[in-house]
Amino acid sequence: PHLLEPFSVHIDFESGLLSPDPVVLVRRLSSLAGYFLQNADTDSEVYSVHEIRVPAERDHLLSSTTIVLPGKVGDEYYMTKGHFHANRDRSEIYLTLSGEGLLVMALENGTTVTKEMRPGVVNYVPGHWAHRSVNTGSEPLVFYAVYIGDAGYDYATIAERGFPVVVVDRDGGPSVVPNPRY
Ligand code: F6R
Ligand code: ZN
Repeated sequence: PHLLEPFSVHIDFESGLLSPDPVVLVRRLSSLAGYFLQNADTDSEVYSVHEIRVPAERDHLLSSTTIVLPGKVGDEYYMTKGHFHANRDRSEIYLTLSGEGLLVMALENGTTVTKEMRPGVVNYVPGHWAHRSVNTGSEPLVFYAVYIGDAGYDYATIAERGFPVVVVDRDGGPSVVPNPRY
């Protein structure tokens, strides 16, 4: 375990940008190949994760902002990859700061729960629920996530099967429909 010095970070709620010094990960359509039902014909940025640096250990709380840009691949809204935690029982809190979206959560047995994301809403993601954030609006979807330091990421299960549902634009609004590939 590391004994850290207390510190503070500033989050701009509108943009989701942090200061100082986050670790930034950018996901483009090329790094999301196979996640959407249709193939993309550009390599646009889809989302970025801005992480506050602390050790990924059980006695720390990791946290980050995620900025999911507005956009679609075919009729499917831009979204995060989604994952289970590598340590499956680790839970997480999402606080939406700006924009609007849907948080899709699923158990390994296919049980699915979808919750709205909008500014001021806290979404609790208990352990064992895979989670994916979908931007259903026309502005960036920005949220702050706090998670147990050793939660880790299991992307493989989602990369193979996807989620039980997909979120698509039907007549100009979001619709949650069964995933034909699940
Ligand atoms: C961490 C967490 C979020 C996501 C981020 C990007 O446990 O849930 O910080 O990591 O929103 O989504 P993924 O990791 O699914 O690409
Ligand atoms: Zn997570």
